[in-house]
Amino acid sequence: MIQLAVNGVQRQFDGDPTTPLLWFVRDELNLPGTRFGCGMGLCGCCTVHIGDKATRSCITPMQDVNGASITTIEGLPAKAPASAGGLHPVQAVWLEENVPQCGYCQSGQIMQAAALLAENPRPSDDDISAAMAGNLCRCGTYPRIHRAIKICAYGKPNSVAALTDGMKTEEQA
Ligand code: FES
Ligand code: FES
Repeated sequence: MIQLAVNGVQRQFDGDPTTPLLWFVRDELNLPGTRFGCGMGLCGCCTVHIGDKATRSCITPMQDVNGASITTIEGLPAKAPASAGGLHPVQAVWLEENVPQCGYCQSGQIMQAAALLAENPRPSDDDISAAMAGNLCRCGTYPRIHRAIKICAYGKPNSVAALTDGMKTEEQA
């Protein structure tokens, strides 16, 4: 019997221990915010937190999460002081900056970004690019993702110099 906490609720699993965590979260717990993309650890759609670490749930078997504490996008707001509307601060900036296009990849992007900012609250451009490199977006929202993470870390640019710097960053991202 595998026991784990998901979004602060204790759960049990007694099925095939090689079942991917993604299927448990989506099909057994009915938490559809974590998405299936490639199923091979290559796109980042399925990112959840194990503890505070961003992890690809599609390639994480249930046997590896016995005793773990998992957070999905549905439980993310509880991990930080909530912003207006009960959102995690990263989610709030995402909305404010209109980051998503189709939205399919965005829960994974937000989980990856939140893990980065929890570990490194003042990431450099290179830190952001390195941390987010494995999260793919077919809509090409990369510049908005990069800018949103910078706003989470440093606030909105409020000078011409900061704005120019931000524009350069978007071009480079
Ligand atoms: S669905 Fe897990 S990395 Fe693509
Ligand atoms: S917003 Fe469409 S795939 Fe990323």
